[in-house]
Amino acid sequence: MASTQAVILVGGKGTRLRPLTSNRPKPIVPLVDRPFMAYMLEWVASHGITDVVMCCGFLADQMVEEIGDGEAYGLHITWVSEPEPRGTAGALWYAHPHLRDERFLMLNGDVLTDMDLSAQIAQHERTGATGTLALVPVEDPTAYGLVRLHEDQSVRGFLEKPTPEQIDTDLISAGAYVLEPSIFDLIPKDRLVSIEREVWPKLVGHGLYGCVHRGKYWMDIGTPQRYLEGTQDILAWRVRTKVAERLRDGPVDPGATVGDGAVVDRASLVDTGARVGDRATIGAGSIVGPGATIGDDAILQNAVVLAGATVGAGARLRDCIVGIDAVLGDGVVMSDAAMVGDGAHVAEGNVLSHGLRVGPGAQVAPGTLWF
Ligand code: GDD
Ligand code: MG
Repeated sequence: MASTQAVILVGGKGTRLRPLTSNRPKPIVPLVDRPFMAYMLEWVASHGITDVVMCCGFLADQMVEEIGDGEAYGLHITWVSEPEPRGTAGALWYAHPHLRDERFLMLNGDVLTDMDLSAQIAQHERTGATGTLALVPVEDPTAYGLVRLHEDQSVRGFLEKPTPEQIDTDLISAGAYVLEPSIFDLIPKDRLVSIEREVWPKLVGHGLYGCVHRGKYWMDIGTPQRYLEGTQDILAWRVRTKVAERLRDGPVDPGATVGDGAVVDRASLVDTGARVGDRATIGAGSIVGPGATIGDDAILQNAVVLAGATVGAGARLRDCIVGIDAVLGDGVVMSDAAMVGDGAHVAEGNVLSHGLRVGPGAQVAPGTLWF
């Protein structure tokens, strides 16, 4: 077990999370108090993985700078940057020179989960599979890869992004696979290849199995709504993460200050150097990032305010995201997954809702936005 290698795919552009991903790749978008990728690395490390091959495309330098060689997570990370995107299976060829000739893990780099990887590896060995897919039940499988199973856990059918009429099970591929090196025989070289669309269908009936993870947390964090939901779930301990250890002593970091009469919910975080004004409310699922300032009487509910941002007095923020060093004037109202990019200034008297996004560095004059 200890020697299993994990390939993590982080080549996607993360366009649905803009402006959070306008100037940084999705894996290092801050989530609660650490880059998103930290959750994946802490998760794999907790299952005895010591060796990670990170396959990147977009803005790799920034990622390398932030995550480093993996030592902080007890891992050794090899960074592979792709001269051109070759898809989820094509990317494996770039990792190939760094893999030992033995079974390995392949992970989509955009899921927040505490699935039991050790159990999945154990099942893979028991069945003698060529590939074992992690499976989780979801309400709506249309955005995912649908997996039909035989009773012995072998895969009967794989359908990427099924139409509603095709859905006859709630099990989907969760983006974590145990693979034998023989998988490379099924991946054409030197062109774009999707593992979901070209490789799994070929492997059905030839050693493709599914490992069902029930009662575990699983979420693809790629949209603003799911990012906010993931934030809430980490803060409420619905997913097993290292953040729980830190929150044990309460939601206010010892290096933060909270004004008179302010209320801070247990399932929130006021991080180091942050300042919360008098009578302000920091509701469940909210983050006040390092060095951020919340004005007097402001109300936050499931609102994420990133490092160094300033929120004016009396602002009302619900289900929204405020970028690093952004500034919101007094009384600004945000809701419904509205997002303000890093360094943007939104003056007083603006109302941002319905998924409205203000780009990084933008200047919004007083009373310009009403929806
Ligand atoms: N390195 C690299 N190169 N990574 C890539 C490339 C590439 O060319 N293309 C995609 N990726 C990465 C993405 O960054 C992401 O981490 C992962 O591969 C999956 O790609 P997505 O674009 O996020 O796919 P999806 O979410 O629509 O579907 C996949 O994940 C679902 C679970 O979240 C499929 O694997 C589905 O079958 C699965 O259900
Ligand atoms: Mg995805």
